[in-house]
Amino acid sequence: MMSNCGPEAPAVTWLDEARKGFARYTSAFAGTLLIRDMTSFDLLSERSSVPSRLLGEPGPTSEQLERLFAMAIRVPDHGKLIPWRLLLVRGEARRQLGEKLAEIHRHNDPNVPDAVIAKDRDRFNFAPLIVAVIARLTPGHKVPEQEQILSAGCVAYNLLLGAQALGFGAQWLTGWAAYDRRVAALLGLVDDERIVSFVHIGTAREPAPERVRPDPAALLSELHFGS
Ligand SMILES: Cc1cc2nc3c(=O)[nH]c(=O)nc-3n(C[C@H](O)[C@H](O)[C@H](O)COP(=O)(O)O)c2cc1C
Repeated sequence: MMSNCGPEAPAVTWLDEARKGFARYTSAFAGTLLIRDMTSFDLLSERSSVPSRLLGEPGPTSEQLERLFAMAIRVPDHGKLIPWRLLLVRGEARRQLGEKLAEIHRHNDPNVPDAVIAKDRDRFNFAPLIVAVIARLTPGHKVPEQEQILSAGCVAYNLLLGAQALGFGAQWLTGWAAYDRRVAALLGLVDDERIVSFVHIGTAREPAPERVRPDPAALLSELHFGS
């Protein structure tokens, strides 16, 4: 049996064990926040999407879903408007939604190529769970609509982070369907509601391809006023 302490143990095994240990440790001792921050930071630094076509069963259990949603809605919310809600799409509803999207697309544009329609049909057939994040806007409120939509975007992003923290893969997709009023009606959206995201969640069937990330230094500047 491979020892976790011996020189032959892979570093990742040691790190995983250490992470679990740190979580227990920090819940027991209040003075170790720095350690917890480091491990959380590692997780956040490693976030990346898994393309929906690489996602499959299993999806989160009901217990994991409960935890995921409770975590996902802990977002900044100016004015405490709760400007979002979640709609789950899973099981047979995924295939049915795909069929209806294909119909709507054909209705919107009779010349759309068959290959595009086939993609619409398949869109929701990979990940076992899709969470539509819906922004519920209060127009004319002193909190600008942009801030309400951003709060909903934070929910979507939290779903990505939470799914990954639970060991799943996830991807934030929109596509034309997120902006189509017939699709909105089909999903039961009322006026002033917007689809912000379809978050696809499942088990990665293969490692997700990494992409080149922007250089943070190239995107950072600092404000200086002349003295
Ligand atoms: C608002 C929003 C909408 C997106 N919609 C799509 C989409 O419709 N199709 C797509 O391929 N990627 C879409 N993406 C990008 C993916 O979610 C993801 O960021 C991309 O696959 C790169 O992976 P990464 O998250 O690891 O950088 C969207 C991202 C955002 C923020």
